[in-house]
Amino acid sequence: MLCYFAIALLISYIFFDVNYFLRIAFTIGIGRLFQKKCGVNDTTTIYGFCTTQDVDIFLRHMNNARYVRELDFARFHFYDRTGIYENITKVNGHALQGASSIRYRRTIPIFTAYKVETKLAYWDEKTLFIEQKFITLNDGFVRAIVLSRQNLLNVDAETLFKGIPGADQRPECPEEIKHWLQSIEVSSAKLRKKD
Ligand SMILES: *[C@@H]1O[C@H](CO)[C@@H](O)[C@H](O)[C@H]1NC(C)=O
Ligand SMILES: *[C@@H]1O[C@H](CO)[C@@H](O)[C@H](O)[C@H]1NC(C)=O
Repeated sequence: MLCYFAIALLISYIFFDVNYFLRIAFTIGIGRLFQKKCGVNDTTTIYGFCTTQDVDIFLRHMNNARYVRELDFARFHFYDRTGIYENITKVNGHALQGASSIRYRRTIPIFTAYKVETKLAYWDEKTLFIEQKFITLNDGFVRAIVLSRQNLLNVDAETLFKGIPGADQRPECPEEIKHWLQSIEVSSAKLRKKD
């Protein structure tokens, strides 16, 4: 019996990133059990720890890809706490990552605790712009800052936010997002020309 379980576990670990799924279930579960619901205008926080699984070839600090992986957990948690996730699934919609921009300001050393703060910086009818910050707990330094553009499929922001507090006033489009959108336009035009 135990033997079958061990084999099943081994096969799961070979074919799936099991820790990814466990971490999502854990993060969302903790949120549902112990944290309050929040509004669209609130900032949510999850906590992480840079382990031996997260480091780069020098074994000294978190590798670049791990930040992006961590963003997923924080974003799912934000969507769940605000109720955005529930409303997306209700209408069979989807939010797809369309672009992201990361600025790594300083590394996160191994065996360091950090938090990821997530907030909705801006939105329009068909897109959400999410800003996330990696902050080390010992010094409060923002190690990395990330902008993500989430494309809404099969649903618009107005429907999504219906009944959720904090969406009555849309924030001004931040300066860096304005410029980023222009940069996306230029890149996209270039590729269209090639196709
Ligand atoms: C969105 O969720 C809120 C509560 O979380 C609910 O009151 C509202 O009816 C939902 N909106 C839609 C369009 O399902
Ligand atoms: C979010 O918006 C609600 C009103 O919709 C307001 O009462 C609350 O103070 C706002 N929260 C923050 C963090 O701005």
